[in-house]
Amino acid sequence: MAFDIDKYTATSVSVHWDDLDFESFREHPLPADSLRTLRYMTDVEYHTVCYTRDLLTTPSHRDPDVGAFMTMWNREEFWHGEALAAVLGMHGITVAYDQLRATRLKLGWKDKLDPIKQSALGALVGSDFIAVHMAWGAANEWSAITAYNRMAELEQNPVLAELLRRIAKQEARHVAFYTSQARDRLAASTKAQKLTRFALRRFWAPVGSTIMKRDDVVHVMTQLMTGEHGAKAARRVDHQIAALPGLHGLTIVQDALRGLGVAV
Ligand SMILES: [Fe+2]
Ligand SMILES: [Fe+2]
Repeated sequence: MAFDIDKYTATSVSVHWDDLDFESFREHPLPADSLRTLRYMTDVEYHTVCYTRDLLTTPSHRDPDVGAFMTMWNREEFWHGEALAAVLGMHGITVAYDQLRATRLKLGWKDKLDPIKQSALGALVGSDFIAVHMAWGAANEWSAITAYNRMAELEQNPVLAELLRRIAKQEARHVAFYTSQARDRLAASTKAQKLTRFALRRFWAPVGSTIMKRDDVVHVMTQLMTGEHGAKAARRVDHQIAALPGLHGLTIVQDALRGLGVAV
């Protein structure tokens, strides 16, 4: 079914948590391993604005549906960061959005080159770039849902689980948008299929791995994507990606995990 962008923009709201008993974390704090993973997730959610900036230099922003989606999506991801930062705050861990932004600005050349590269690539391949962007977005959002659901499963903390369930529900709408766009665009162009296949295979990396330290990436992937249930979750994301037109056989998540030395 086609994604209803008008309905999405009209119903986009911040994830709410004011009814959740965050005070309970004082009595039942989360373990250090999980806090480290939540910290990673917070950083990634807050980084969305930089990712959005990069994409505003590509043909994607000229498409009205994509532009409208990205505006609301960017806000929702920011609020996911706020909610997770509040959980960390109850554990005495401060993640300030402004501070993070300042750190990102200091990343220097690497960060500065990203939008230029994106924009050059965008101009080079024209509208087929949007297909790459949409399939990439679908892979990232599937990863996000998987990560939040895995975390909720592992921790079995009712307050955290409820918050993560609410976030995952919004991630599911993001998946729906990216998937419906990717499916249509890939089905319409074999050139887009080839390009997307190449880009995902060659350049895709787990969400956050280009901005976080490698040992943090390994920690998060090991916690969430290993063991019987974790490995199954990784395979499920790969199956979903491979079901898009022209992407059969791709195993980008499992390949990335192996590349990081994380057992799958
Ligand atoms: Fe999110
Ligand atoms: Fe999302």
